[in-house]
Amino acid sequence: MIIPSMLSADFRKTGDELVRVDNAGADAIHWDIMDGSFTDSISFGHLTVARHRELSRLRFDVHLMTENPEKYIENFARAGADVIIVHAETCRHLHRTLGDIKSLGKKAGVALNPATSPNVVHYCADIADLVLVMTVNPGSSGQNFIKSQLDKISDLRNFLPSQIEICVDGGITDLTVGECAERGADSFVSGSYIFKNQNYADAIKELRQKCKNPVNF
Ligand code: DX5
Ligand code: ZN
Repeated sequence: MIIPSMLSADFRKTGDELVRVDNAGADAIHWDIMDGSFTDSISFGHLTVARHRELSRLRFDVHLMTENPEKYIENFARAGADVIIVHAETCRHLHRTLGDIKSLGKKAGVALNPATSPNVVHYCADIADLVLVMTVNPGSSGQNFIKSQLDKISDLRNFLPSQIEICVDGGITDLTVGECAERGADSFVSGSYIFKNQNYADAIKELRQKCKNPVNF
């Protein structure tokens, strides 16, 4: 699955951008929610997600890069999120929060910062639907892929049941996507690589193609 991140879209016309990536063959849409505390920047809120929900039937993944993510879960569920992803680093009661997401009828995801061990997911594997491996530090798009995270993808794939989706987020390009796929990732969030391309369909196709034919980087 190739998942464009709206953080790299043109903010003057995010609705058009969403429709364009949808028509270009995106498999889902990634919304980076930043609160100015866990991350320095502030991005979108649930009202933004709700208005865009009317424009596309694609899966909406909401990546909560916020402190106290449990405060926001209900609003984003109502806004039309399909998957709600919280950071292991910000959840005091991670297992409970994942359960709360599920009881709202949504899929539950755990995001891991680059410095966080994959072991934190071990005892949430009974309830998590997705693990998001951050391959950059949270906060902005256009950063370089952190290569040490490849081993984390392999580790997770080794111990997680196959139905748990492993998604990678940060620095995904035609150069990096293939090795992530080889290590066992199922889905790939990409911001700047897709949106800086004039032709979104070409960029998405290229990422898909490189998943099958990885290049060394
Ligand atoms: C980083 C965000 C990513 C980001 C990816 O804080 O979680 O989703 O938008 O952007 P690229 O693909 O440009 O690294
Ligand atoms: Zn993200």
